[in-house]
Amino acid sequence: MLQDKDRIFTNIYGLKDKSLKGAMSRGHWDGTKQIIEKGRDWIINEMKASGLRGRGGAGFPTGLKWSFMPKESDGRPHYLVVNADESEPGTCKDREIMRHDPFTLLEGCVIAGFAMGAHTAYIYLRGEYMREREALQTAVDECYEAGLLGKNNKNGWDFDIYLHHGAGAYICGEETALLESLEGKKGQPRLKPPFPANMGLYGCPTTVNNVESIAVAPTILRRGASWFSSFGRPNNVGTKLFMVSGHVNKPCTFEEAMGLSFREIIERHCGGIRGGWDNLLAVIPGGASCPVVRGEEMTDAIMDFDGMRDVKSSFGTGGMIVMDKSTDIIKAIWRIAAFFKHESCGQCTPCREGTGWMMRVLERMVRGNAQKREIDMLFQVTKQIEGHTICALGDAAAWPVQGLIRNFRPEIEARIDQYTKNATSVGAVMEAAE
Ligand SMILES: Cc1cc2nc3c(=O)[nH]c(=O)nc-3n(C[C@H](O)[C@H](O)[C@H](O)COP(=O)(O)O)c2cc1C
Repeated sequence: MLQDKDRIFTNIYGLKDKSLKGAMSRGHWDGTKQIIEKGRDWIINEMKASGLRGRGGAGFPTGLKWSFMPKESDGRPHYLVVNADESEPGTCKDREIMRHDPFTLLEGCVIAGFAMGAHTAYIYLRGEYMREREALQTAVDECYEAGLLGKNNKNGWDFDIYLHHGAGAYICGEETALLESLEGKKGQPRLKPPFPANMGLYGCPTTVNNVESIAVAPTILRRGASWFSSFGRPNNVGTKLFMVSGHVNKPCTFEEAMGLSFREIIERHCGGIRGGWDNLLAVIPGGASCPVVRGEEMTDAIMDFDGMRDVKSSFGTGGMIVMDKSTDIIKAIWRIAAFFKHESCGQCTPCREGTGWMMRVLERMVRGNAQKREIDMLFQVTKQIEGHTICALGDAAAWPVQGLIRNFRPEIEARIDQYTKNATSVGAVMEAAE
């Protein structure tokens, strides 16, 4: 179990003093000025060396992303945009940072902003996160009052932070849709290139990072890249906020070192699977967009980027949805398909039309009212969507369905057989009655 001394988040459950004074007493905002005095190159190199991979789902190396921002200003302002949209089912970690440990994020914004030549950060919050916004705004106000933000602040780098509330659309978590929405337009993804580092918010150099990616940066820089990279295994390092929902005895969010197996995580933090390990049916490892994995395959898999790739799924945000044998797995994936259909912005035809097709075919498969050849046809539909859209929402919608077909084909076929048998026997009874 990760020891208290190695936790980045010192108040993730909000049980301790949430004020700035409380956060400072636990080591936050300690030596921020000294970190900034080490310079942009030092910070970016240290972040690269730490091996931190973005915590928003795609796992892109954070230090490398920061290095894409232009070194010299051509007169346009640079922006840091924090992605606090957190709308993927199964993912609920950023909200804990914002409502209970917000100073980790605010200090991270100043340091990351400095490293990228930005004097302004916008934090884009999910529409439903009212309480999180209130807590975060209180923390921002406290920082201004204490002279940690604003002009001529104590850190030696002028910096402002603004909160922006979304209207509750999953697509606005996609970084360029987020930028459109922040500019007051309809939240639809942009074609890339140009990439945000050259042409982002208001046409200016911009970096979009997830809340957790930014919030962990100050501690990494204080304790050193090698400290962070000592957790986990190469390419999959650090500590991480994991979330477990569904059929475990104690669903929860917690910080843990990377590199543990799924079983170790569930035993240590969640009191085991409801009804025991033999009762585990399936797991969606990293938020609803990740392919579902059969329970027996998941049990000893390492819960990190490479480990999840090995079981043909994805680490995503580290939000595990656990399903025991009481679950109707076809219905569960249909429900996810319905979510993606609802959230497709409609810009790209394969996604706009394909998400509806997948949902409707799955709806019949839930009842068993389908033909077996449609299973392969449905798989083909997912392949027509995957990789054929401007943003990754199409992929996100296709992967859970692919996971279902790859891992649960016998269950789909059995449902169809059962339906056919019932229909035949009903038909026979009716014939006899005639
Ligand atoms: C449809 C869609 C929704 C997304 N939602 C989120 C989100 O809610 N939060 C987030 O951090 N990243 C989300 N992402 C990923 C972002 O586009 C982006 O990769 C991420 O914010 C980068 O941060 P990171 O490098 O710190 O991980 C989403 C991507 C897609 C395609």
